[in-house]
Amino acid sequence: MIDLFSEVAQYCDLTIPENHKVPIAIIGAGGIVDGAHLPAYKKAGLNVVGITDVDPEKARDVAARHGIGKVYSSLDELLADPIPVVIDIAVPAAAQPEIFLKVANSKRHILAQKPMATTVADGLAMAEAVAANKIVAGVNHQLRFEEGMAAAHKMVELGWIGTVTNMTFHVNLITPWELWPWAKDLERLEIMLHSIHYHDVMRWFLGNPRRVYCAAGRTNGQFPKGETRTISTYVYDDGVTGLVHANHINRGGDNYAEYRIDGDKGSIRGTMGLLYDYPVGRVDTLEVNSLVVPTDGWTPYPVTTRWFPDAFMGTMGSVMAAISTGSPVRSSVADNVDTLKLVAALYESMDSGVAISL
Ligand SMILES: NC(=O)c1ccc[n+]([C@@H]2O[C@H](COP(=O)([O-])OP(=O)(O)OC[C@H]3O[C@@H](n4cnc5c(N)ncnc54)[C@H](O)[C@@H]3O)[C@@H](O)[C@H]2O)c1
Repeated sequence: MIDLFSEVAQYCDLTIPENHKVPIAIIGAGGIVDGAHLPAYKKAGLNVVGITDVDPEKARDVAARHGIGKVYSSLDELLADPIPVVIDIAVPAAAQPEIFLKVANSKRHILAQKPMATTVADGLAMAEAVAANKIVAGVNHQLRFEEGMAAAHKMVELGWIGTVTNMTFHVNLITPWELWPWAKDLERLEIMLHSIHYHDVMRWFLGNPRRVYCAAGRTNGQFPKGETRTISTYVYDDGVTGLVHANHINRGGDNYAEYRIDGDKGSIRGTMGLLYDYPVGRVDTLEVNSLVVPTDGWTPYPVTTRWFPDAFMGTMGSVMAAISTGSPVRSSVADNVDTLKLVAALYESMDSGVAISL
């Protein structure tokens, strides 16, 4: 059984080879950089040479606690430093495109935060800047590197569950929206900030759907203005289906975050441990039941790393591998334009009440 999983485990390995490692500078010293980017980079043995933030006090505090040598007073000062090779942008999406274009036009490689942008037009302009400047650019959709999800993807690729017929996400949480004061008044909330991970992963497994439908809701007394529950359905040409149901105001307190992939020769089911107690979390689970390989019923795959912070090594490692070897970025800016198109279609459906063809 251990032999059976070895190829899958190898695919999930987040180790960044020494000869891929290049210096990083960070734009944005917020919660996600403090709590996930920097712990992951420390674990991977990466070198962060400097950081900047519009709030210099935050940049100084994060730099001091994580041993970062330089605090740049501005983006221009950061770009004047020739040492960093990858610029890691982690600011709210509304501020990201302008910064991204400036960095891209300075011909630096980029890892952008998700959502890459809030409009398809901004996303297209960012992808065009990447192509025009011949840089490597990824988006921090690290769910594609979370060990359970990556293992599931490899199992599907190896044909363990045959032809995929359906993928579903069921997520029911109490999310501490108060942690992100800038998100309080956003009209577009749940899909744009959270479920975009699942929609991006759904595209990674199944490709772009033919048609989507989305309904959204809110709960009396909720902190943010935007939608906090979404139900999205996907239809593909060949009858393949998908569903994402995510709720963030679970007054019952029984948080769960499950996904499942069904094929004509088996099924895979998993849980995203992070969401059971965000941002502390618990271990992820993954099980496979295959008619192709000898699982003899539901067999657990031993997940040994976490979505936060470990998978953040994956998104940065993928950008560094592309710089060193020319390999494709698993979550590239070019590919992410289609995730933004999908998100736009889901919001169009939510607003209009009708299914949208892509
Ligand atoms: N990939 C993931 O799983 C994940 C998880 C959490 C957050 N995020 C995304 O990361 C981004 C940041 O989230 P956060 O939780 O750190 O938020 P945060 O509010 O804690 O931090 C944002 C930081 O960006 C700074 N900032 C804003 N505009 C700036 C600008 N123009 N130049 C430099 N700095 C600027 C702010 O001062 C703040 O320090 C958001 O887009 C969020 O959606 C992604």
